[in-house]
Amino acid sequence: MKRWFVWIAMAALMAVFCRPVTVETAGLSPLTVPARGEETKYIALTFDDGPRADTTGRLLDGLQERGAHATFFVIGEQVPENEALLKRMAAEGHQVGNHTFSHESLQNAAEHTIIEEIQKTEVLLEEILGEGEYWLRPPYGLVDNRIGPLVKTPMIYWSLDPEDWRLLNTDQVVAYVLGRVKNGDIILLHDFYPTSVDAALQIVDALQAEGYVFLTVEELFQQFGTQPQNGVLYASATEERNW
Ligand code: NI
Repeated sequence: MKRWFVWIAMAALMAVFCRPVTVETAGLSPLTVPARGEETKYIALTFDDGPRADTTGRLLDGLQERGAHATFFVIGEQVPENEALLKRMAAEGHQVGNHTFSHESLQNAAEHTIIEEIQKTEVLLEEILGEGEYWLRPPYGLVDNRIGPLVKTPMIYWSLDPEDWRLLNTDQVVAYVLGRVKNGDIILLHDFYPTSVDAALQIVDALQAEGYVFLTVEELFQQFGTQPQNGVLYASATEERNW
């Protein structure tokens, strides 16, 4: 075989096999998986305090274009008039979780308040999305010893927090995350702020190019073989957070 022919054939094969691949996930938005040869790493973006009509929709568009899954911990008070966004999250393969009804801290709260704050949002989510497990992110990440036994789902903290709500600056949020991110991280952001939506999409672009796959928290746990336990607070795919 002529040498030029071998080179052309190799170039053609490289072009076919070294592109990022899009995996169809039955009816859900496809996941973008890195090309062969790149080391695959997995992380979960989590978004708190939404949904919010003018920011969450744009974020969902951007995630869909990029084949990235995420997790949305929604506040019950934010749900009315945003039901369509919740349905869209579920339909596009994202995980929807519970961030209580009114975003009161559960730490040191009365027991009936803790139960009510969780249940009111759970009822709303079940009305809109059907029966399911809606994992809890405690407001401010604050819990105490009484809360674990009252919670009938896993609880999710985070391993990387750029404090996007304080910075309100896209470049600074992106730089914080890109400078510290590692395999298995759970990243805390808020879809409530336009600067955070911009930052999230830039983070997806930059990290997909480095071989990261963006999963829901539930998918991240499956990937790492973590069996989520009810009432336990997790900081990342492999670490629990003690309080
Ligand atoms: Ni919050």
